[in-house]
Formats: sequence, C-alpha cells, structure tokens
Amino acid sequence: MKIAIYPGSFDPIHNGHLDVIERATQLWDRVIVSVAYNGAKTGLFSNEERVTLIETATSHLENVSVTSFEGLLVNYVEQEKADVVVRGLRAISDFEYEFQMALMNRSLDENLETVFLMPSQENIYLSSRIVKEVAKLGGEISKFVPEVVEAALREKIS
Ligand code: PNS
Repeated sequence: MKIAIYPGSFDPIHNGHLDVIERATQLWDRVIVSVAYNGAKTGLFSNEERVTLIETATSHLENVSVTSFEGLLVNYVEQEKADVVVRGLRAISDFEYEFQMALMNRSLDENLETVFLMPSQENIYLSSRIVKEVAKLGGEISKFVPEVVEAALREKIS
C-alpha cells in the first residue's frame, strides 16, 4: 500500500489543487490531503472549514482522506507512514520555494521524497490568493473552484 501526503494551506481548495489530487489518486493507493495548521498565519477559512471543503470537493474519490497537522511535515509523514510528499508545480515562479522546501524536508529526513505533479494548463494560473481576490471584487469564480467552495466564498465575503 503506497501512501502519498499532499500538504498545503488550502485556503480554500481550488480546481488546481483538485487536479493534482485526482492525478495523485491514479499513482498511489491512498492520498492524504492534509491542511497544515499555521498559528501565525490567519486565513479566510478556519482549519476545520478547509478540511470540510476538501472532504466535500473530493467525495467522488475513494482513496482520498483529509486531515490536518501541526508542526513539521516530516514528523507527520512519519506518523502516517507515508511514502512520498506530493506538491503541485504550476510555473517557474513556484520552483524556488518548492525546491527549498523539498530540500529542507530531505535534510530533516533523508528518506523523504517529494514528487511534483503539474496540473492541466487550464488550472495552471490558479492560486487561492487570486481566487479570493476575484471573489472579493465580485468576479465570477465558478470556473476556478468546486461548487461547494464557490458557495462558501460567497457566504464568507458577503
Ligand atoms: O499551500 P502552501 O502554503 O504552499 O503549503 C506550504 C506547506 C504547508 C506545505 C509548508 O509550509 C509546510 O510543510 N509546513 C509545515 C511546517 C514545516 O514542516 N516546515 C518546514 C518545511 S519547509
């Protein structure tokens, strides 16, 4: 049983994340999507809300479970006995940050591999930050996020 962990802030999950999750489910037996708790960073959605939104958005995928974790990712990966960390890579601008994280995680745990998956072209420019900005300014976001997230964003912002 090969397990992948896909960690992130997911504030909130968007179609680019979902694209990566769907690809990961084809490659590993179980995919754990895990919301990283960051006490210092306040987001639009609470941790619990993010988890619930991901659960609803991935309910069609049998081998996905949704959790949250606090502290170092390497410790959580060990706790879950996962084989790899999955991250999405959209553009060159992501590369430096992702490279830094992957190498830091590897130096904390030499056995930890990070695997990068690319979303399809139509989702490549998405980020939670930009989706929230468009929603706050009254733009149409139905193309960018699952329905449940669209409704949640509208409610949060109104
Ligand atoms: O969606 P994000 O904000 O790009 O996700 C970043 C995340 C949560 C994967 C990263 O910040 C993380 O792994 N945080 C857990 C704390 C940790 O292990 N930090 C050291 C590794 S860089």
